[in-house]
Amino acid sequence: MDKDVVSAKLFLIIPLFMPLILASAELLDIFCPNDSGSYTLYSPFENNLKQLLESLPSNTSVTGFYHTSIGDNPYTVYGQALCRGDVNSTVCQTCIWNASQEILTQCKSEDAMIWFELCQVRYSYQMFISLMDYTVKYLNNLGQNSSDPVLAVHYNEVLAYLFNNISTEASNDPSKRMFVTGEIKLSTETIYGLVQCTRDIPEDDCNSCLLSALRDFETCCFSLRGGTLLSRNCNMRFEAYQFYSASSLILTYPSSEGYYSLKRRNRMVVVITCVPLLVLAVLGGSCAVYHRRKKRTQPGLLCVQEDPADRPTMTSVAVLLGNESVPLPEPKHPALAISRLIQIDQLSAANPSVNELTLSNVSPR
Ligand SMILES: *[C@@H]1O[C@H](CO)[C@@H](O)[C@H](O)[C@H]1NC(C)=O
Ligand SMILES: *[C@@H]1O[C@H](CO)[C@@H](O)[C@H](O)[C@H]1NC(C)=O
Ligand SMILES: *[C@@H]1O[C@H](CO)[C@@H](O)[C@H](O)[C@H]1NC(C)=O
Ligand SMILES: *[C@@H]1O[C@H](CO)[C@@H](O)[C@H](O)[C@H]1NC(C)=O
Ligand SMILES: *[C@@H]1O[C@H](CO)[C@@H](O)[C@H](O)[C@H]1NC(C)=O
Ligand SMILES: *[C@@H]1O[C@H](CO)[C@@H](O)[C@H](O)[C@H]1NC(C)=O
Repeated sequence: MDKDVVSAKLFLIIPLFMPLILASAELLDIFCPNDSGSYTLYSPFENNLKQLLESLPSNTSVTGFYHTSIGDNPYTVYGQALCRGDVNSTVCQTCIWNASQEILTQCKSEDAMIWFELCQVRYSYQMFISLMDYTVKYLNNLGQNSSDPVLAVHYNEVLAYLFNNISTEASNDPSKRMFVTGEIKLSTETIYGLVQCTRDIPEDDCNSCLLSALRDFETCCFSLRGGTLLSRNCNMRFEAYQFYSASSLILTYPSSEGYYSLKRRNRMVVVITCVPLLVLAVLGGSCAVYHRRKKRTQPGLLCVQEDPADRPTMTSVAVLLGNESVPLPEPKHPALAISRLIQIDQLSAANPSVNELTLSNVSPR
Protein backbone atom coordinates (compact mmCIF):
# COMPACT_ATOMS: atom_id res chain seq x y z
CA MET A 1 0.00 0.00 0.00
CA ASP A 2 1.10 3.53 -0.66
CA LYS A 3 3.06 4.98 2.27
CA ASP A 4 1.30 8.33 2.17
CA VAL A 5 -2.08 6.67 2.34
CA VAL A 6 -1.02 4.70 5.40
CA SER A 7 0.26 7.72 7.28
CA ALA A 8 -2.78 9.75 6.27
CA LYS A 9 -4.99 7.04 7.71
CA LEU A 10 -2.99 6.91 10.93
CA PHE A 11 -3.28 10.64 11.18
CA LEU A 12 -7.04 10.32 11.01
CA ILE A 13 -7.25 7.45 13.45
CA ILE A 14 -4.97 8.65 16.24
CA PRO A 15 -6.90 11.79 17.24
CA LEU A 16 -10.07 9.73 17.41
CA PHE A 17 -8.53 7.28 19.85
CA MET A 18 -6.62 9.75 21.99
CA PRO A 19 -9.55 10.88 24.19
CA LEU A 20 -10.52 7.25 24.76
CA ILE A 21 -7.06 6.35 25.99
CA LEU A 22 -6.80 9.42 28.21
CA ALA A 23 -10.26 8.93 29.68
CA SER A 24 -9.68 5.27 30.43
CA ALA A 25 -6.86 6.13 32.82
CA GLU A 26 -9.37 7.82 35.11
CA LEU A 27 -13.10 7.45 34.49
CA LEU A 28 -14.04 3.83 33.82
CA ASP A 29 -17.81 3.89 33.75
CA ILE A 30 -20.84 5.83 34.82
CA PHE A 31 -24.30 4.45 35.63
CA CYS A 32 -26.84 7.15 35.19
CA PRO A 33 -30.24 5.69 34.27
CA ASN A 34 -32.54 8.01 32.38
CA ASP A 35 -35.62 6.03 33.28
CA SER A 36 -35.34 6.52 37.03
CA GLY A 37 -36.42 10.14 36.77
CA SER A 38 -34.28 13.24 37.06
CA TYR A 39 -34.18 15.39 40.13
CA THR A 40 -35.46 18.94 39.83
CA LEU A 41 -32.82 21.65 39.62
CA TYR A 42 -32.62 23.84 42.76
CA SER A 43 -34.81 21.31 44.60
CA PRO A 44 -34.08 20.19 48.20
CA PHE A 45 -32.86 16.91 46.68
CA GLU A 46 -30.23 18.67 44.59
CA ASN A 47 -29.20 20.71 47.58
CA ASN A 48 -28.80 17.62 49.74
CA LEU A 49 -26.94 15.81 46.98
CA LYS A 50 -24.43 18.64 46.66
CA GLN A 51 -23.84 18.66 50.39
CA LEU A 52 -23.41 14.92 50.41
CA LEU A 53 -20.91 14.93 47.55
CA GLU A 54 -18.94 17.71 49.24
CA SER A 55 -18.61 15.69 52.43
CA LEU A 56 -17.36 12.55 50.69
CA PRO A 57 -13.72 13.38 49.76
CA SER A 58 -12.34 14.29 53.18
CA ASN A 59 -14.42 11.76 55.09
CA THR A 60 -13.60 8.90 52.75
CA SER A 61 -9.88 9.63 52.77
CA VAL A 62 -9.63 8.69 56.47
CA THR A 63 -10.13 4.93 55.98
CA GLY A 64 -10.80 4.63 52.24
CA PHE A 65 -14.50 3.93 52.76
CA TYR A 66 -17.42 6.07 53.89
CA HIS A 67 -21.18 6.23 53.68
CA THR A 68 -23.72 8.68 54.94
CA SER A 69 -27.12 10.20 54.30
CA ILE A 70 -28.21 13.80 54.24
CA GLY A 71 -31.65 15.43 54.45
CA ASP A 72 -35.10 14.52 55.70
CA ASN A 73 -37.69 12.34 54.02
CA PRO A 74 -38.72 12.63 51.17
CA TYR A 75 -35.52 14.40 50.08
CA THR A 76 -32.99 12.14 51.77
CA VAL A 77 -29.90 11.33 49.73
CA TYR A 78 -27.81 8.26 50.57
CA GLY A 79 -24.19 8.21 49.50
CA GLN A 80 -21.21 5.92 49.56
CA ALA A 81 -17.59 6.13 48.43
CA LEU A 82 -14.77 3.62 48.23
CA CYS A 83 -11.12 4.01 47.31
CA ARG A 84 -9.02 1.16 45.97
CA GLY A 85 -7.28 -0.47 48.91
CA ASP A 86 -3.74 0.45 47.86
CA VAL A 87 -4.04 4.23 47.49
CA ASN A 88 -3.03 6.69 50.21
CA SER A 89 -5.38 9.29 51.65
CA THR A 90 -4.16 12.09 49.35
CA VAL A 91 -4.85 10.12 46.18
CA CYS A 92 -8.11 8.84 47.67
CA GLN A 93 -9.36 12.33 48.43
CA THR A 94 -8.50 13.68 44.95
CA CYS A 95 -10.09 10.69 43.26
CA ILE A 96 -13.34 10.97 45.27
CA TRP A 97 -13.40 14.70 44.59
CA ASN A 98 -13.00 14.11 40.86
CA ALA A 99 -15.62 11.39 40.88
CA SER A 100 -18.10 13.58 42.80
CA GLN A 101 -17.63 16.45 40.36
CA GLU A 102 -18.05 14.14 37.41
CA ILE A 103 -21.20 12.45 38.71
CA LEU A 104 -22.76 15.82 39.51
CA THR A 105 -22.12 17.27 36.05
CA GLN A 106 -22.82 14.12 34.02
CA CYS A 107 -25.87 12.80 35.87
CA LYS A 108 -29.18 14.30 36.80
CA SER A 109 -30.84 11.09 37.90
CA GLU A 110 -31.89 10.34 41.46
CA ASP A 111 -29.78 7.21 41.52
CA ALA A 112 -26.30 7.03 40.06
CA MET A 113 -22.88 5.47 40.34
CA ILE A 114 -19.46 6.27 38.93
CA TRP A 115 -16.29 4.14 38.75
CA PHE A 116 -12.81 5.53 38.45
CA GLU A 117 -9.74 3.35 38.30
CA LEU A 118 -8.90 4.21 41.90
CA CYS A 119 -12.27 4.93 43.48
CA GLN A 120 -16.04 4.80 43.13
CA VAL A 121 -18.96 6.98 44.26
CA ARG A 122 -22.63 6.10 44.47
CA TYR A 123 -25.73 7.99 45.57
CA SER A 124 -29.46 7.31 45.60
CA TYR A 125 -32.80 8.43 46.99
CA GLN A 126 -33.21 4.81 48.11
CA MET A 127 -31.52 3.32 51.15
CA PHE A 128 -28.91 0.94 49.73
CA ILE A 129 -26.29 0.86 52.48
CA SER A 130 -25.51 -2.74 53.56
CA LEU A 131 -27.69 -4.20 50.80
CA MET A 132 -25.75 -6.29 48.34
CA ASP A 133 -26.63 -5.65 44.72
CA TYR A 134 -24.76 -7.57 42.07
CA THR A 135 -24.99 -5.47 38.94
CA VAL A 136 -22.11 -5.99 36.63
CA LYS A 137 -20.10 -4.47 33.80
CA TYR A 138 -16.96 -5.62 32.06
CA LEU A 139 -14.12 -3.66 30.64
CA ASN A 140 -11.90 -5.91 28.59
CA ASN A 141 -9.05 -3.67 27.71
CA LEU A 142 -7.86 -1.23 30.27
CA GLY A 143 -4.34 -2.27 29.40
CA GLN A 144 -3.50 -1.63 25.76
CA ASN A 145 -3.27 -5.17 24.54
CA SER A 146 -5.30 -6.86 27.20
CA SER A 147 -7.99 -7.97 24.77
CA ASP A 148 -5.57 -10.26 22.97
CA PRO A 149 -6.79 -13.80 23.37
CA VAL A 150 -4.40 -16.06 25.23
CA LEU A 151 -4.38 -19.67 24.17
CA ALA A 152 -1.88 -20.95 26.72
CA VAL A 153 -2.89 -24.28 28.19
CA HIS A 154 -4.32 -23.99 31.73
CA TYR A 155 -4.46 -20.18 31.46
CA ASN A 156 -8.07 -19.90 32.64
CA GLU A 157 -7.60 -22.56 35.29
CA VAL A 158 -4.66 -20.67 36.73
CA LEU A 159 -6.73 -17.48 36.78
CA ALA A 160 -9.64 -19.26 38.44
CA TYR A 161 -7.24 -20.61 41.05
CA LEU A 162 -5.87 -17.12 41.71
CA PHE A 163 -9.30 -15.50 42.04
CA ASN A 164 -10.71 -18.28 44.18
CA ASN A 165 -7.88 -17.80 46.60
CA ILE A 166 -7.92 -14.00 46.86
CA SER A 167 -11.74 -13.86 46.93
CA THR A 168 -11.78 -16.23 49.89
CA GLU A 169 -9.05 -14.23 51.60
CA ALA A 170 -10.95 -10.97 51.05
CA SER A 171 -14.16 -12.24 52.63
CA ASN A 172 -12.61 -14.39 55.39
CA ASP A 173 -9.83 -12.29 56.82
CA PRO A 174 -11.14 -9.12 58.52
CA SER A 175 -7.65 -7.62 58.69
CA LYS A 176 -7.61 -7.38 54.87
CA ARG A 177 -10.60 -5.01 54.93
CA MET A 178 -12.12 -6.71 51.88
CA PHE A 179 -9.21 -5.86 49.60
CA VAL A 180 -6.73 -8.50 48.44
CA THR A 181 -4.23 -8.68 45.61
CA GLY A 182 -2.38 -11.76 44.43
CA GLU A 183 0.06 -12.84 41.78
CA ILE A 184 0.66 -16.15 40.12
CA LYS A 185 3.31 -17.31 37.68
CA LEU A 186 2.44 -18.81 34.34
CA SER A 187 5.20 -20.34 32.24
CA THR A 188 6.63 -17.05 30.97
CA GLU A 189 4.69 -14.28 32.65
CA THR A 190 3.09 -13.34 35.93
CA ILE A 191 -0.62 -12.55 36.28
CA TYR A 192 -1.66 -9.94 38.82
CA GLY A 193 -5.16 -9.97 40.30
CA LEU A 194 -7.19 -7.75 42.59
CA VAL A 195 -10.54 -8.09 44.38
CA GLN A 196 -12.36 -5.63 46.60
CA CYS A 197 -15.78 -5.31 48.26
CA THR A 198 -17.49 -2.26 49.71
CA ARG A 199 -17.16 -2.55 53.48
CA ASP A 200 -20.83 -1.90 54.29
CA ILE A 201 -21.85 -5.45 53.30
CA PRO A 202 -21.27 -8.46 55.59
CA GLU A 203 -18.47 -10.91 54.80
CA ASP A 204 -20.95 -13.50 53.51
CA ASP A 205 -22.30 -11.03 50.99
CA CYS A 206 -18.80 -10.04 49.95
CA ASN A 207 -18.11 -13.70 49.34
CA SER A 208 -21.26 -14.26 47.26
CA CYS A 209 -20.67 -11.04 45.30
CA LEU A 210 -17.16 -12.23 44.44
CA LEU A 211 -18.41 -15.73 43.58
CA SER A 212 -20.95 -14.31 41.11
CA ALA A 213 -18.27 -12.01 39.78
CA LEU A 214 -15.85 -14.89 39.31
CA ARG A 215 -18.42 -16.86 37.29
CA ASP A 216 -19.03 -13.92 34.97
CA PHE A 217 -15.38 -13.00 34.85
CA GLU A 218 -14.48 -16.50 33.67
CA THR A 219 -16.95 -16.21 30.81
CA CYS A 220 -16.04 -12.73 29.67
CA CYS A 221 -12.37 -12.40 30.31
CA PHE A 222 -10.40 -15.47 31.29
CA SER A 223 -9.10 -16.09 27.82
CA LEU A 224 -7.85 -12.52 27.56
CA ARG A 225 -4.65 -10.85 28.70
CA GLY A 226 -6.49 -8.67 31.17
CA GLY A 227 -9.93 -7.63 32.31
CA THR A 228 -11.92 -5.57 34.77
CA LEU A 229 -15.29 -6.33 36.29
CA LEU A 230 -17.18 -3.53 37.98
CA SER A 231 -20.21 -3.97 40.19
CA ARG A 232 -21.79 -1.95 42.97
CA ASN A 233 -20.43 -3.96 45.87
CA CYS A 234 -17.41 -5.76 44.46
CA ASN A 235 -14.77 -5.35 41.78
CA MET A 236 -12.23 -7.65 40.13
CA ARG A 237 -9.33 -7.03 37.83
CA PHE A 238 -6.31 -8.82 36.42
CA GLU A 239 -3.47 -7.82 34.11
CA ALA A 240 -0.19 -9.25 32.92
CA TYR A 241 1.61 -6.37 34.64
CA GLN A 242 1.54 -5.10 38.21
CA PHE A 243 -1.12 -2.38 38.23
CA TYR A 244 -1.39 -1.91 42.01
CA SER A 245 1.09 -0.91 44.67
CA ALA A 246 -0.01 -3.22 47.47
CA SER A 247 2.00 -6.19 48.66
CA SER A 248 0.33 -9.24 47.16
CA LEU A 249 -0.10 -12.90 47.98
CA ILE A 250 2.28 -14.97 45.91
CA LEU A 251 0.54 -18.12 44.72
CA THR A 252 1.77 -21.25 43.02
CA TYR A 253 -0.55 -23.25 40.86
CA PRO A 254 -0.64 -26.94 41.75
CA SER A 255 0.06 -28.19 38.24
CA SER A 256 -1.26 -31.74 38.68
CA GLU A 257 -4.76 -30.42 39.36
CA GLY A 258 -4.96 -28.59 36.04
CA TYR A 259 -3.62 -31.48 34.04
CA TYR A 260 -6.34 -33.84 35.21
CA SER A 261 -9.25 -31.47 34.89
CA LEU A 262 -8.20 -30.52 31.36
CA LYS A 263 -7.89 -34.14 30.33
CA ARG A 264 -11.30 -34.92 31.79
CA ARG A 265 -12.91 -32.05 29.91
CA ASN A 266 -11.49 -33.09 26.55
CA ARG A 267 -12.67 -36.63 27.06
CA MET A 268 -16.17 -35.40 27.91
CA VAL A 269 -16.49 -33.56 24.61
CA VAL A 270 -15.52 -36.61 22.61
CA VAL A 271 -17.88 -38.81 24.60
CA ILE A 272 -20.83 -36.46 24.34
CA THR A 273 -20.39 -35.89 20.62
CA CYS A 274 -19.64 -39.43 19.63
CA VAL A 275 -21.71 -41.64 21.90
CA PRO A 276 -24.74 -41.56 19.56
CA LEU A 277 -22.46 -42.43 16.65
CA LEU A 278 -20.88 -45.28 18.55
CA VAL A 279 -24.28 -46.62 19.57
CA LEU A 280 -25.30 -46.52 15.95
CA ALA A 281 -22.18 -48.37 14.93
CA VAL A 282 -22.76 -51.04 17.56
CA LEU A 283 -26.41 -51.41 16.62
CA GLY A 284 -25.34 -51.77 13.03
CA GLY A 285 -23.61 -54.97 14.04
CA SER A 286 -20.08 -53.74 13.43
CA CYS A 287 -18.93 -54.30 16.97
CA ALA A 288 -15.18 -54.74 17.06
CA VAL A 289 -12.31 -54.91 19.49
CA TYR A 290 -9.60 -52.26 19.09
CA HIS A 291 -5.97 -52.87 19.81
CA ARG A 292 -4.40 -49.60 18.78
CA ARG A 293 -5.00 -46.38 20.68
CA LYS A 294 -4.81 -44.15 17.64
CA LYS A 295 -7.52 -46.11 15.95
CA ARG A 296 -9.82 -45.43 18.87
CA THR A 297 -9.27 -41.70 19.34
CA GLN A 298 -9.16 -40.71 15.72
CA PRO A 299 -12.88 -41.18 14.93
CA GLY A 300 -13.53 -39.26 18.14
CA LEU A 301 -11.39 -36.33 17.02
CA LEU A 302 -13.00 -36.42 13.62
CA CYS A 303 -16.40 -36.07 15.24
CA VAL A 304 -15.54 -32.76 16.92
CA GLN A 305 -14.25 -30.92 13.88
CA GLU A 306 -15.48 -27.34 13.66
CA ASP A 307 -16.48 -27.55 10.01
CA PRO A 308 -19.27 -30.07 9.45
CA ALA A 309 -17.62 -30.92 6.15
CA ASP A 310 -14.59 -32.24 8.06
CA ARG A 311 -16.72 -34.49 10.23
CA PRO A 312 -17.35 -38.05 9.12
CA THR A 313 -20.89 -39.11 8.33
CA MET A 314 -22.71 -41.64 10.50
CA THR A 315 -22.16 -44.43 8.05
CA SER A 316 -18.50 -43.67 7.57
CA VAL A 317 -17.98 -43.71 11.36
CA ALA A 318 -19.61 -47.10 11.46
CA VAL A 319 -17.28 -48.22 8.70
CA LEU A 320 -14.24 -46.66 10.40
CA LEU A 321 -15.00 -48.38 13.66
CA GLY A 322 -15.76 -51.68 12.07
CA ASN A 323 -12.98 -51.90 9.56
CA GLU A 324 -9.33 -51.84 10.59
CA SER A 325 -7.99 -51.47 7.10
CA VAL A 326 -9.81 -48.25 6.06
CA PRO A 327 -7.29 -45.37 6.13
CA LEU A 328 -8.43 -42.56 8.44
CA PRO A 329 -8.21 -38.93 7.35
CA GLU A 330 -5.89 -36.95 9.68
CA PRO A 331 -8.04 -34.95 12.12
CA LYS A 332 -7.52 -31.19 12.19
CA HIS A 333 -7.66 -29.21 15.43
CA PRO A 334 -10.74 -30.12 17.43
CA ALA A 335 -13.49 -27.51 17.55
CA LEU A 336 -12.94 -26.80 21.22
CA ALA A 337 -10.13 -24.28 20.78
CA ILE A 338 -11.61 -22.65 17.70
CA SER A 339 -15.02 -21.95 19.16
CA ARG A 340 -13.43 -20.18 22.09
CA LEU A 341 -11.80 -17.77 19.68
CA ILE A 342 -15.10 -17.09 17.97
CA GLN A 343 -16.68 -16.26 21.27
CA ILE A 344 -14.09 -13.56 21.93
CA ASP A 345 -14.59 -12.06 18.49
CA GLN A 346 -18.32 -11.77 19.04
CA LEU A 347 -17.69 -10.27 22.42
CA SER A 348 -15.47 -7.52 21.08
CA ALA A 349 -17.47 -6.99 17.91
CA ALA A 350 -20.53 -6.01 19.93
CA ASN A 351 -18.60 -3.36 21.77
CA PRO A 352 -14.83 -3.18 21.94
CA SER A 353 -14.45 -2.02 25.51
CA VAL A 354 -17.63 -2.32 27.52
CA ASN A 355 -19.88 -5.32 27.83
CA GLU A 356 -22.91 -4.72 29.90
CA LEU A 357 -24.64 -7.72 31.36
CA THR A 358 -27.38 -6.55 33.65
CA LEU A 359 -28.68 -3.27 34.85
CA SER A 360 -31.09 -3.21 37.70
CA ASN A 361 -34.13 -1.09 37.10
CA VAL A 362 -34.70 1.62 39.63
CA SER A 363 -38.27 2.71 39.83
CA PRO A 364 -39.01 6.40 40.28
CA ARG A 365 -40.50 7.58 43.50
C1 LIG B 1 -30.15 10.10 28.67
O1 LIG B 1 -30.79 11.26 28.17
C2 LIG B 1 -29.92 12.17 27.55
C3 LIG B 1 -30.70 13.42 27.18
O2 LIG B 1 -32.02 13.12 26.88
C4 LIG B 1 -29.28 11.51 26.33
O3 LIG B 1 -28.39 12.40 25.69
C5 LIG B 1 -28.52 10.27 26.79
O4 LIG B 1 -27.98 9.59 25.68
C6 LIG B 1 -29.43 9.34 27.56
N1 LIG B 1 -28.63 8.28 28.10
C7 LIG B 1 -28.99 7.00 28.01
C8 LIG B 1 -28.07 6.02 28.65
O5 LIG B 1 -30.00 6.63 27.45
C1 LIG C 1 -17.48 14.80 56.99
O1 LIG C 1 -16.99 15.96 56.35
C2 LIG C 1 -17.59 17.17 56.76
C3 LIG C 1 -16.95 18.29 55.98
O2 LIG C 1 -16.99 18.05 54.62
C4 LIG C 1 -17.43 17.38 58.23
O3 LIG C 1 -18.14 18.54 58.64
C5 LIG C 1 -17.98 16.15 58.98
O4 LIG C 1 -17.73 16.29 60.35
C6 LIG C 1 -17.33 14.89 58.49
N1 LIG C 1 -17.94 13.75 59.13
C7 LIG C 1 -17.23 12.81 59.73
C8 LIG C 1 -18.01 11.68 60.33
O5 LIG C 1 -16.02 12.83 59.76
C1 LIG D 1 0.47 9.16 47.87
O1 LIG D 1 0.66 8.37 46.70
C2 LIG D 1 1.08 9.13 45.58
C3 LIG D 1 1.10 8.23 44.36
O2 LIG D 1 1.48 6.94 44.70
C4 LIG D 1 2.44 9.76 45.87
O3 LIG D 1 2.86 10.55 44.76
C5 LIG D 1 2.32 10.66 47.10
O4 LIG D 1 3.59 11.16 47.46
C6 LIG D 1 1.76 9.88 48.26
N1 LIG D 1 1.49 10.80 49.36
C7 LIG D 1 1.77 10.54 50.62
C8 LIG D 1 1.42 11.58 51.62
O5 LIG D 1 2.29 9.48 50.95
C1 LIG E 1 -8.40 14.26 39.09
O1 LIG E 1 -8.62 15.07 37.93
C2 LIG E 1 -7.48 15.76 37.50
C3 LIG E 1 -7.90 16.67 36.38
O2 LIG E 1 -8.69 15.98 35.47
C4 LIG E 1 -6.41 14.75 37.06
O3 LIG E 1 -5.26 15.42 36.64
C5 LIG E 1 -6.08 13.85 38.23
O4 LIG E 1 -5.17 12.85 37.82
C6 LIG E 1 -7.33 13.22 38.78
N1 LIG E 1 -6.94 12.47 39.95
C7 LIG E 1 -7.49 11.34 40.32
C8 LIG E 1 -6.93 10.65 41.50
O5 LIG E 1 -8.45 10.85 39.71
C1 LIG F 1 1.50 -6.16 25.49
O1 LIG F 1 1.94 -7.47 25.22
C2 LIG F 1 3.35 -7.61 25.17
C3 LIG F 1 3.68 -9.03 24.77
O2 LIG F 1 2.91 -9.96 25.45
C4 LIG F 1 3.94 -7.25 26.53
O3 LIG F 1 5.35 -7.33 26.49
C5 LIG F 1 3.54 -5.82 26.88
O4 LIG F 1 4.00 -5.49 28.15
C6 LIG F 1 2.03 -5.69 26.82
N1 LIG F 1 1.64 -4.31 27.05
C7 LIG F 1 0.72 -3.96 27.96
C8 LIG F 1 0.43 -2.52 28.06
O5 LIG F 1 0.15 -4.79 28.61
C1 LIG G 1 -4.14 -18.55 49.29
O1 LIG G 1 -2.79 -18.75 48.98
C2 LIG G 1 -1.90 -18.51 50.07
C3 LIG G 1 -0.50 -18.61 49.56
O2 LIG G 1 -0.29 -19.83 48.93
C4 LIG G 1 -2.21 -19.49 51.19
O3 LIG G 1 -1.38 -19.21 52.28
C5 LIG G 1 -3.67 -19.32 51.58
O4 LIG G 1 -4.00 -20.29 52.55
C6 LIG G 1 -4.58 -19.47 50.38
N1 LIG G 1 -5.92 -19.15 50.82
C7 LIG G 1 -6.97 -19.87 50.43
C8 LIG G 1 -8.28 -19.42 50.96
O5 LIG G 1 -6.88 -20.84 49.71
